[in-house]
Amino acid sequence: MPVTVDANLGGSAEAISASELAEIGLRYEVDGAIATITLDRPDKRNAQTFATWSALARIGEHIPDQVRIVVVKGEGPSFSAGIDLRMFTPEGVPGQGSFVSAASLEETTFERRIADAQRGFLWLRRPDIVSIAAVHGHAIGAGFQLALACDLRVVADDVKFCMKEPALGLVPDLTGTKPLVELVGLPRAIELCLTARVVGAEEAVRLGLAELAVPAGELAQAVQDLAGALLATDRGAATATKRLLQGALGRSLEEQAIAERREQIVRIRTLFASG
Ligand code: CAA
Repeated sequence: MPVTVDANLGGSAEAISASELAEIGLRYEVDGAIATITLDRPDKRNAQTFATWSALARIGEHIPDQVRIVVVKGEGPSFSAGIDLRMFTPEGVPGQGSFVSAASLEETTFERRIADAQRGFLWLRRPDIVSIAAVHGHAIGAGFQLALACDLRVVADDVKFCMKEPALGLVPDLTGTKPLVELVGLPRAIELCLTARVVGAEEAVRLGLAELAVPAGELAQAVQDLAGALLATDRGAATATKRLLQGALGRSLEEQAIAERREQIVRIRTLFASG
């Protein structure tokens, strides 16, 4: 039975309650080893704000130790229509400012503000968890980047990925550019971003943007099945292997071989050392 929990499990000053999350347009549930984060502002197509990103970061900081899988999904017809378009208006998002007000921020403050937003995305790559984006309908801009922030993407057959930022005069800055290039390669990433065209389910799987595409009605079950298969693997081995794989692209073959040896010594000692 999933339980909705306050994210203040450690009782820290950065507590965030279920009702606070609801106000921001998020739900957070923990069911054993699986945590589920739901973008829950369907009437606005799960548009995201700075409050969304700061809440995501705080959820990440307080994920209970037993959690091994984090599922990120969207309520309603879209996964997420990206950043709240009120940011482009002079009035902005109440309490959060606008791009107009941000434009006059001093450089360091401005950079810190974007870094704070990125914190909501970065933790999803932690080696000790596997994050799965369950994506249906539109995943635009920040929505596409949130899906890219996850380790794996399972998509419904109605999915529509679109990197809209350049078409709006911006760059994708929510940690999406690196995984995009790693997944589809530089030329395709340039083409997708600079045309802001829509990528559907079949192409997403073909390009490596998604591991699996299923009929929309089967998305939840497909994610649950994948989570079950992932949970069948020993946690220590899963964490060490993810860490190795994450580091592989940045290392030479010799460096990677050294990293493999080091991780394996820890595994074998953990499993077989007596006394
Ligand atoms: N921000 C705020 N409100 C949004 C929104 C957004 N990004 N997207 C949709 N909404 C609101 C609409 O204004 C509408 O509200 P009302 O009912 O109050 O009028 C409601 O959600 C439903 O929208 P639609 O009627 O348009 O729904 P649809 O299902 O026909 O279309 C859609 C869905 C294709 C996603 C369309 O809403 C759309 O194109 N949205 C804008 C997408 C966009 O350009 N996002 C910005 C991406 S760039 C980015 O994210 C920047 C960054 O990271 C820095």
